[in-house]
Amino acid sequence: MGVDIGGKELVTYIPIVTTVGLAIYVTWQALRPKIGLVNPGIEKNEQKVVNSMDIEDIGDSIAFCRCWRSKKFPLCDGSHNAHNKKQGDNVGPICLKRKSA
Ligand code: FES
Repeated sequence: MGVDIGGKELVTYIPIVTTVGLAIYVTWQALRPKIGLVNPGIEKNEQKVVNSMDIEDIGDSIAFCRCWRSKKFPLCDGSHNAHNKKQGDNVGPICLKRKSA
């Protein structure tokens, strides 16, 4: 009983197995849920998102986004409110404020 596959026959299956494996991999990559990613869409073509700003340009106060949903990233535009409501989350900006003299 059983299938007796010799070396020559086995070689003929390599393209089929490779094609099916590649198709499964590509499909899995396309359908893989993005759950777990902190950044859903900001500068995704970059390996790492880094922003810098001169302290002198900040003014008296500024709010930096920590939810990664702001259309004005790295600044907060209030998008965290919609995210929190939809996801049941509680994220918000980090606010810097200059002490008044
Ligand atoms: S929009 Fe991201 S923290 Fe406000």
